[in-house]
Amino acid sequence: MQGNRTFTMIKPDAVENNYIGAILEKINSAGFTIKAMVYTRLSKRDAEQFYAVHKERPFYGELVEYMSSGPIVAAILEKDNAVADFRTLIGATNPAEAAEGTIRKLYAKDISANAIHGSDSDENAQIEGRFFFSERDIH
Ligand code: CMP
Repeated sequence: MQGNRTFTMIKPDAVENNYIGAILEKINSAGFTIKAMVYTRLSKRDAEQFYAVHKERPFYGELVEYMSSGPIVAAILEKDNAVADFRTLIGATNPAEAAEGTIRKLYAKDISANAIHGSDSDENAQIEGRFFFSERDIH
């Protein structure tokens, strides 16, 4: 994944509220193509590992509990300038600060249950994508 790919998760709050379809529609309408996708659930250990980079943050425990609290959808997406354009599409981490029309503004509850994840760099997109998918899964 270089330059044109990013990684996303539709988080437990959005799955529970039946927003998967609406969110995928926004993603496709914005020009992203789905290259790999899975509906799954993180164990607590999976979430600890996935978010290990945030281990020292005060919200780490809450984040791990929340991300393992219910099913998610994980996907690899393709588009020119994927990482930056996807972060624009999803909006600010805190939905209260997210721009109108962004996925978090439309579908997120709060800064913890914020509906969707988007990688913050090409390098992290690759690392995060590999957490869920092998080369064989990516089309
Ligand atoms: P995301 O950017 O997908 O990955 C890290 C997550 O940590 C972030 O989404 C938020 O859901 C969560 N997060 C960031 N800051 C806070 C905070 N101050 N309190 C609770 N959760 C947070």
